Amino acid sequence: MNNVFKRTDMCGTLGIKDVNKEVILNGWVAKRRNLGGLIFVDLRDKTGIVQITFDDTISKEIFDLADSLRTEYVIGVKGRVAERSAKNENIPTGEIEVFATDLVLYSEAETPPIYIKDDDNVDDNLRLKYRYLDLRKTKMQRNLTFRHKVTKIARDYFDEQGFTEVETPMLIKSTPEGARDYIVPSRVYPGSFYALPQSPQLFKQLLMVGGTDRYMQIAKCFRDEDLRADRQPEFTQIDLEVSFADQDTIMEIQEGFLKKVFKELMNVEIQTPLPRLPWEEAMERYGSDKPDTRFGFELKKLNSVVKNCNFKVFTDCLEAGGDVRGISIDGGSDKFSRKDIDKLTEMTKAYGAKGLVWIRVNENEFNSSVNKFFTQEELGEIAKVFEAKVGDLIFICSDKAKVTYDSLGFLRREVAKRMGLLDDKQFNLLWVVDFPMFEEDEETHRLKAMHHPFTCPKLDQLDLLDTEPLKVKADAYDIVLNGVELGGGSVRIHDKNLQRKMFEVIGLTPEECDEKFGFLIEAFKYGAPPHAGLAYGLDRFVMLLLGEASIREVMAFPKNQNAQCLVTSAPAPVEHEQLEELGIDTK
Ligand code: AMO
Repeated sequence: MNNVFKRTDMCGTLGIKDVNKEVILNGWVAKRRNLGGLIFVDLRDKTGIVQITFDDTISKEIFDLADSLRTEYVIGVKGRVAERSAKNENIPTGEIEVFATDLVLYSEAETPPIYIKDDDNVDDNLRLKYRYLDLRKTKMQRNLTFRHKVTKIARDYFDEQGFTEVETPMLIKSTPEGARDYIVPSRVYPGSFYALPQSPQLFKQLLMVGGTDRYMQIAKCFRDEDLRADRQPEFTQIDLEVSFADQDTIMEIQEGFLKKVFKELMNVEIQTPLPRLPWEEAMERYGSDKPDTRFGFELKKLNSVVKNCNFKVFTDCLEAGGDVRGISIDGGSDKFSRKDIDKLTEMTKAYGAKGLVWIRVNENEFNSSVNKFFTQEELGEIAKVFEAKVGDLIFICSDKAKVTYDSLGFLRREVAKRMGLLDDKQFNLLWVVDFPMFEEDEETHRLKAMHHPFTCPKLDQLDLLDTEPLKVKADAYDIVLNGVELGGGSVRIHDKNLQRKMFEVIGLTPEECDEKFGFLIEAFKYGAPPHAGLAYGLDRFVMLLLGEASIREVMAFPKNQNAQCLVTSAPAPVEHEQLEELGIDTK
């Protein structure tokens, strides 16, 4: 085994300031070129790449060793930094090179199955299978380091605010956050199972009962749900809970945290207090409870303008209790062809829309997909609602309120994306507040808590719990960044009777409630402080700050789209004996 060269510097940090410095570097060979009497090696470590030059001033032995280097060999180099005559503006260290005086080879490497370069176009599954190679990319190392900095700021900031980091268990009884549980069989109690936590929700509340006062944790959470670009089965929260706190206390603490993260990591000054948008207004204006406010195209309700029109699709919809809503795209008319509109219409079908009506505002007329049902005056009335100008394009959807919100909410963002309006250097943060306490489950038609059933309803609306529960609002809040739900939280119930009542409204019998959450209600008997909290999705936060399109880019070993870990091939079958020991019969 060779001696390890004791490193003095990192490759990516060297620059003109280091000229003439004797340095020792360790890393991987990114590239080697032999130009006869000169060998150039691009050396890579987690900070970046620097050019090493071997010339005829070094021994033949070292020169030959340098010549034998291949991509991904692991080496150590001693040398002197010099200013380059031909500068390379494409890399941060391009003004200098290191003239080698000594070289050690630590490890040879076979040709890697993926190309280790930031802007490659490798298939995602191949990247995930060889993740340890993929992670060598400067971008991936920068992402991991950035993520580390976010958690470090979180730990430091919340520490200063009097929070204690406490670990909560992984083998627990189910915590309802609305997804399926991952379950773990118990060997000691055959036929019984632990669940992996969907979040530390109940434990952090018990910590408040336990006097911890202010809790934080960088917490792993597990949810068996359909995967998307911003969802993984295993993800991380910055999880927080505060005793003797109301909504304002939580928001003030969080705004301090967000200000610090943006200032220190992005050099962006966030103006606080952040805007607070009631849920109803968010839906009405943006069709979404996580509105992207970087652009306009706000929704408008058209019920009163179209109620007497000759277009049966609209009038039938209104009669059936539905709504007619639309958006107007400033200057959209010449940006979207008929074909584009057909494609967008097709895409909104995923949100339940059966079709879209469009109106182009031309110089002297309105041109529309429903020309034969509307007079020019009527179309003018619709355009007026949007204050539309020549060149604008209006889309209209008529359906159940939810379908109009979901379809147009999707459409406004998709159109903005296609028009290049989603500037990832702009960070629009806001709170969405006053969520409904309950929503109807689309499949079972039973009521379920929109946030979770430990959320406190507005105390002046308790009388509606029995009569019109869907009208009850909750002290729940989400923090939204550029159209993504960054985090969510609420003031909690700390009264055992109110907690029981909530379970009753969502259809749990007293027996089910005791069986599932008896321990929480029991805990509330012995003096529970009022408390409130919030959890950020750490992966999403880092993804947005880095302008990445998927949370996989900011996780070291994410699962693929089919929830598999391709590095280790999990999930995988286990030995029959192991199942037997657990009392599990798979036949
Ligand atoms: P919630 O379920 O809203 O609240 O989760 C909080 C935040 O976690 C992130 N998140 C996810 N990120 C990646 N992959 C997933 N599958 C995933 N699911 C959620 C989101 C979300 O805003 N216990 C409550 C918090 C509280 O009330 O304090 C909770 O977990 O960014």
